[in-house]
Amino acid sequence: MATISKAEKLDAVRKDVDRLNSETSNADQLMEGVTVLLNEQMLKYNWVGFYMLEAGADPPMLVLGHYQGAMTPHLRIPLNQGICGAAASSGKTVVVDDVSKDPRYLACSIETKSEIVVPVFVSGLVAGELDIDSHFAAAFDFQDRKLVEYCAQIVGKRLESE
Ligand code: SME
Repeated sequence: MATISKAEKLDAVRKDVDRLNSETSNADQLMEGVTVLLNEQMLKYNWVGFYMLEAGADPPMLVLGHYQGAMTPHLRIPLNQGICGAAASSGKTVVVDDVSKDPRYLACSIETKSEIVVPVFVSGLVAGELDIDSHFAAAFDFQDRKLVEYCAQIVGKRLESE
């Protein structure tokens, strides 16, 4: 069986994301499609979901949206909690290679070993984030980070256009 390199795989998934973006009728469908695609195509992406900032909430609150993977107890996350809160409040991608060593980590599944959270920007402001957990330590390298940031960017632009 022919094998493809990781770069080729990521490139193919990027093209699938572009296709999803043109074939879906709104941002909500796109977000659902992105979770399904990443969870199915990327073998180490074991939980994939969006948390979106609740409109008008004071204090600000991240609310679970579309996701693939096991049910999580964290349906709502304040910005001062978790890796999710850290990414949303800083507006920066957070990659954690070993969640057991990060005191900010809110456990979703005992199988999770590493996590990436990428903010979604709409008109320059954080509107939510794309969160991915892996059962493998250090699952998210530079190439993964670029793919997940690409997905978050496409979703942000789509939300901006609605
Ligand atoms: N681990 C996240 C919580 C969300 S679950 O991973 C789905 C955090 O530390 O914020």
